[in-house]
Amino acid sequence: MKFKYLGNTKEKIPEIGIGTWKMGVNPEKEITALRAGMDAGMRFIDTAEMYGTEWVVAKAIKNEEDVFVATKVSPSHFSYDDVIKACDRSLKSLEVKQIDLYQLHWPNHSVPIRETMRAMEDLVDAGKIRHIGVSNFSIREFQEAQDSMAKYRIVSNQVEYSILVGLEPGLLDFCNKNKVTIIAYSPLAKGALFSPKNRHALLVLEAIGRAHGKSAVQVALNWVVSNENAVAIPKASDATHVLENAGASGWRLTPKEYKMLDPISGNNQSPLSRYNNILKSSGVWARAAHSIYERKGKAHLKSSTTKSSKK
Ligand SMILES: NC(=O)c1ccc[n+]([C@@H]2O[C@H](COP(=O)([O-])OP(=O)(O)OC[C@H]3O[C@@H](n4cnc5c(N)ncnc54)[C@H](OP(=O)(O)O)[C@@H]3O)[C@@H](O)[C@H]2O)c1
Repeated sequence: MKFKYLGNTKEKIPEIGIGTWKMGVNPEKEITALRAGMDAGMRFIDTAEMYGTEWVVAKAIKNEEDVFVATKVSPSHFSYDDVIKACDRSLKSLEVKQIDLYQLHWPNHSVPIRETMRAMEDLVDAGKIRHIGVSNFSIREFQEAQDSMAKYRIVSNQVEYSILVGLEPGLLDFCNKNKVTIIAYSPLAKGALFSPKNRHALLVLEAIGRAHGKSAVQVALNWVVSNENAVAIPKASDATHVLENAGASGWRLTPKEYKMLDPISGNNQSPLSRYNNILKSSGVWARAAHSIYERKGKAHLKSSTTKSSKK
C-alpha cells in the first residue's frame, strides 16, 4: 500500500481507505471486510455521524492499532455547541479517545463558518480531534473556512471523484498548490461503473488492466489516486471486493495509459456537469443537496439506530 502525506502535515495515510456509507446492514460481513482491508494495509476508515455506522467501525477497530479514523459532523450541527456535542457523541460511538480527522460533512450557509471553525479549532486544542477536514466544499467555501481559522490548516476536502465523475474545475490545482488532500468519495461511482450503461468504459479499463495483471476496478481506482494529492475511499462490504480494491495501490498507470482514459474520464465535463459545478461554487447546490441529504441521512440513521439497538 502506498502512503501519501495528509495535507500539509508530516503524517502519511494509505492512498486507498474504506468508506462505510450504507454499512450496518450485515454488520458481521462488513466487520470481516473492514478487518480484511486493514490487514491489507487499508488502515484508513471513513464514516460520519449521519451514516449511523460509527458503531460498526468501533467493532472493526477494537484491539487494532494505527488505524486512521475519519468521521464527519452533519451540517445541522454546525453551531458551536452542536459541533462539540456531535464530536463527543462520535468519540463515544467510535469508542476512541481521539478522532484522527473530523470533517464538516457539507457546507451550511445558515451558520456563520467562523463559529463552526472556532469549534473545530477548540476540539483540536482539547485533544479530541487531530486534524480538521471539510467535505463537499467548493474552492470558495474552502477558502472562507480556512480564512476564518486562527491557528490550524484544513488538511483535506472530501469530494466526489471517479473516472466517471469529475471534480470542480480548478479544484485539483488548488489542492495541489495549497497542500490539501483530496479524499475521493464514491470512487467507483457508487457502483455505476458496473452498470451496462458504462460497458464501454469498463471494457477500456479491462483492456488497460491486462498489461498490469489488474482488474477494471483496480485501474479505475488507480486512475483516481494517480493524482499526487488524492486518496480514495471505496466502500465495500464484501471482503473479496475490499482486497481487490487494496490491489489498486502499489503500482501506476503509465502516462500513456492515463491519457488513454481521458475520453471516458469525468475530467471531460459534460455541459450538465459544468452547470452542476457552477451551482456548486455558487452555494445553491450545497443548500439543495444539504436538505435532500439530511432527509436521507435521517431516514438511514433511524433505520441503523434501530438495527444497532437490536444488536
Ligand atoms: N462526504 C460525502 O458527502 C460522501 C458521499 C458519499 C460517499 N462518501 C464516502 O465515500 C465512500 C464510498 O462511496 P460510495 O459508498 O458512495 O460508493 P463507491 O465506493 O463508489 O461504490 C460502492 C459500491 O461499489 C461496490 N464495490 C466496491 N468494491 C468493489 C469491487 N472491487 N468490485 C465490485 N463492486 C465493488 C460496493 O459493493 P459491496 O458493498 O457489495 O462490496 C458498493 O456497491 C462512502 O462509503 C462514504 O464513506 C462520502
